[in-house]
Amino acid sequence: MRKSRKNAVMKALQARIRKVARGDIDRIIDIERSWHHLSHWSIDSYYRLINEDNFTQSFIAEIDDEHGVPKIVGFVIFHFTIDVSEIYNIAVDTAHARSGIGKQLMTAAIEASRRNHAYRVTLEVRKSNTPAINFYLGFKFRVAGERRNYYSNPMEDAYVMELETGPDSD
Ligand SMILES: CC(C)(COP(=O)(O)OP(=O)(O)OC[C@H]1O[C@@H](n2cnc3c(N)ncnc32)[C@H](O)[C@@H]1OP(=O)(O)O)[C@@H](O)C(=O)NCCC(=O)NCCS
Repeated sequence: MRKSRKNAVMKALQARIRKVARGDIDRIIDIERSWHHLSHWSIDSYYRLINEDNFTQSFIAEIDDEHGVPKIVGFVIFHFTIDVSEIYNIAVDTAHARSGIGKQLMTAAIEASRRNHAYRVTLEVRKSNTPAINFYLGFKFRVAGERRNYYSNPMEDAYVMELETGPDSD
């Protein structure tokens, strides 16, 4: 019992969460491509969304490697409309998965959404992506619906998941 609590504490990795910069995009694409089960966006889509879409925000998680050099280990990209924020994509470097980095990124996205009065956060996820579904359930997202054949390569249905974060939920 004592040992497992100690391991749980050791595994959490504190990252710096900051807004994405232009020079970060290639590394973001590398991280996304390292997860083979995901549908991959085109390189052009990443550049357009991050550089040109004023309603899209992106954060990266950065740690220092063994030489003290900053290394990007995760990202989240999300989009605002009037009162809704949609998580477009979130991924963590495979080598650093399950170290608490996704949680730090998602927390930052939810907080930024609330600051913009987007009190509903939505996302789509492949029905087979059980790790990600568990991750979202941990934030109290709920399954609000489904989209048939939403994904390609391979074709698959999506769950639509939603989280309500009212202005008074602090
Ligand atoms: C989903 C993802 C972003 C989670 O990031 P992460 O840094 O690995 O997750 P965290 O370490 O912050 O985990 C937080 C909690 O989520 C849940 N979780 C995360 N990964 C899980 C897994 N593989 N299996 C079961 N639960 C998991 C756990 O409850 C975990 O808490 P715990 O470790 O204390 O049990 C990451 O696994 C990832 O990049 N996956 C590939 C990309 C992807 O599928 N993105 C979603 C697209 S819709």
